[in-house]
Amino acid sequence: MLKIIVGSGEEISRLIAEQFILQIQKKPDSVLGLATGTSPLGVYRNLIEANKKKVVSFSKVTTFNLDEYIGLEGTHNQSYRYFMNVNLFDHIDIDKKNTFVLKGVGDYLAYANNYDNLIEEHGGIDLQILGIGSNGHIAFNEPDTPFDSLTHIADLNESTIKDNSRLFSSIKEVPTKAVTMGLKSIMNARKIVLIAMGKSKAEAVKNLIKGKISKRVPSSILRNHPDVTIYVDQDAYSLVNK
Ligand code: F6R
Repeated sequence: MLKIIVGSGEEISRLIAEQFILQIQKKPDSVLGLATGTSPLGVYRNLIEANKKKVVSFSKVTTFNLDEYIGLEGTHNQSYRYFMNVNLFDHIDIDKKNTFVLKGVGDYLAYANNYDNLIEEHGGIDLQILGIGSNGHIAFNEPDTPFDSLTHIADLNESTIKDNSRLFSSIKEVPTKAVTMGLKSIMNARKIVLIAMGKSKAEAVKNLIKGKISKRVPSSILRNHPDVTIYVDQDAYSLVNK
């Protein structure tokens, strides 16, 4: 059963940050699953503020990120390692050694093949945050990804390349492949929160909440998980009752 919370972008970002803070207060050495993209930025801003005010400490926390572009070094300004450093890790008291992001270059394949084991060795993910693509993807699990997939290499769909091109100087520069946690890897998390904002996500949110559970809509697998909360703003929720 999905829980659904509708609020302004600011409200839902604050509510998700509270979930993370409660999780870490309850278990200081929590393992967190993190996402990149525009959607979680407000959550990360709230976490930075809470850390500055000493409401929460990340000193014992471990994090695993969902995905990374193939071909980008961690120092590239569109790599997800860079994104995480700039938007969260550089501003909190986390030990960077405890922040795991998939590799996009070098031995990325071997690293990917061991990623699920690495998560398991750390005790599994306690709380995972997800965004959602306009085509219903979660992480880079595009439509038709098998539900039992673990971390793997993925080809990005045209629509994802187009959506993400806003962050690159031209569409030609957007990588066409990524390494991503699979749908099963995500489902292994003990608790999941998903955040979606804006009209461009309305169709995907409707399919996630009301459509058939099917490989065509990767996020629909979340309906089989015992502890998932979907946080949406009015625009993202606007098609659910239509
Ligand atoms: C990012 C990720 C992606 C994004 C999704 C939405 O780590 O896994 O699935 O969550 O593409 O991106 P935004 O939030 O930029 O709309």
